[in-house]
Amino acid sequence: MDYLTIEGGAKLSGSVTISGSKNAALPVIAATLLSDKDITLENLPNVVDIKTLLKLVEMLGGKVNYHDNHSVTINNRSISSTKAVYEIVSQMRASILVLGPLLARFGECEVSLPGGCAIGQRPIDLHLKALEAMGAVIEIKSGYVKAYAPDGLKGAKIVFDKITVGGSENAIMAAALAHGTTTIINAAKEPEVVQLCEILVDGGVLIEGVGTSEITIEGTGGKPIDFKTPITIIPDRIEAGTYLCAGAITKSSITLKKVNAQHIKASIDKLESMGCQFDISDDEVTIYPPEELISANITTTEYPGFPTDMQAQFMALAIVSKGDTLIEERLFENRFMHVSELNRLGADIWLKGNIAAVHQVDELNGADVMATDLRASSALVLAALIAKGETNIHRIYHLDRGYENLEGKLSALGAKIHRHK
Ligand code: EPZ
Repeated sequence: MDYLTIEGGAKLSGSVTISGSKNAALPVIAATLLSDKDITLENLPNVVDIKTLLKLVEMLGGKVNYHDNHSVTINNRSISSTKAVYEIVSQMRASILVLGPLLARFGECEVSLPGGCAIGQRPIDLHLKALEAMGAVIEIKSGYVKAYAPDGLKGAKIVFDKITVGGSENAIMAAALAHGTTTIINAAKEPEVVQLCEILVDGGVLIEGVGTSEITIEGTGGKPIDFKTPITIIPDRIEAGTYLCAGAITKSSITLKKVNAQHIKASIDKLESMGCQFDISDDEVTIYPPEELISANITTTEYPGFPTDMQAQFMALAIVSKGDTLIEERLFENRFMHVSELNRLGADIWLKGNIAAVHQVDELNGADVMATDLRASSALVLAALIAKGETNIHRIYHLDRGYENLEGKLSALGAKIHRHK
């Protein structure tokens, strides 16, 4: 298995171009199942999760024409199967995003239950409740969700008890082809949900309340969507935030290119309270870190609050920030797997329930560590950038799922990082 070796201590400089957002691209790819026409997607990140979902689309009978590493044209006119098999869903739980569109367009589908993962149980009950509210009949059998709506889905009022990104996305895609009007209360407001709504609006679907917690969607009554193409995927706000942390932890000024500063405001605000300064223009952000970061407590929450997907990276910063930091994880019950690995590098982090207390240490020392999930892996990379000596990071297939060419981008900034095949 591939692993990374990082020799800590190098200063970074220069600029890094941010890739398209994985978490925006996944629902957009799923939404192509709502259409029977050619749809070109651009600025796709070249990461494993995207390849996995494109493979699923092909397994369903969709045609995917790969132009280069960042652009494809998909045609889902001749879908021949509505079953998302275990082999794919077990690799990537976001495959559940095909549930809403397949059911809405074909009146039936079967998707393997995703099960738990390294960051928590991650149930899909809210996805299913939303579809049931729209008239779907759902049974769980032999590890599969089997959903039927032979006469099509019907517009409904959906109230989410909890804000769910994927649940909102599945409901929005299903509602787009339903008969009648759907109102979603307590919808997620993440930029990825907004992009999904925007491409549907551009494709002729009437949607009100885009980017708010109450979204109203006029379904097409089963008529496939004629998307306006090409669709350009928005910049990855979590990749961008991770590179800002790389600048902050190494006390290096670096510039992010092709970024949406509004989407990373929570990370920028937190870094400002830790002593960093910024130059922000249309699609570029430059960070100027202080000689010593100052601790700032963190509570993860839904957008536009501080993202759970940045919690692990900021924990790496907290290790060397002046003072103690409390980090409260509110979204996932088990998203602290990186704590013990960071402690192996010399960090002083204590865990109680969903709160981590991080005490400042003077230095970290390189060691062998193991990545446990995507963002946990990036926290280990950040810590390794300042650890004395060499850190070997194992199980980096987690990183490859969501960070495009991480070692190439960090090397170009001056990091001493090497992938062993
Ligand atoms: C999305 O996951 C992201 N994934 C995650 O990013 C991100 O951490 C998460 O949103 C929160 O921002 C993608 O977009 C592909 P949720 P999702 O449904 O949609 C509970 C990364 O590192 N819940 O908003 O699965 C759930 O357990 C990944 O890129 C239910 O209880 O997250 C969690 O506690 C990791 N029942 C909370 O809601 C449900 O039916 C929020 O989860 C659905 C969710």
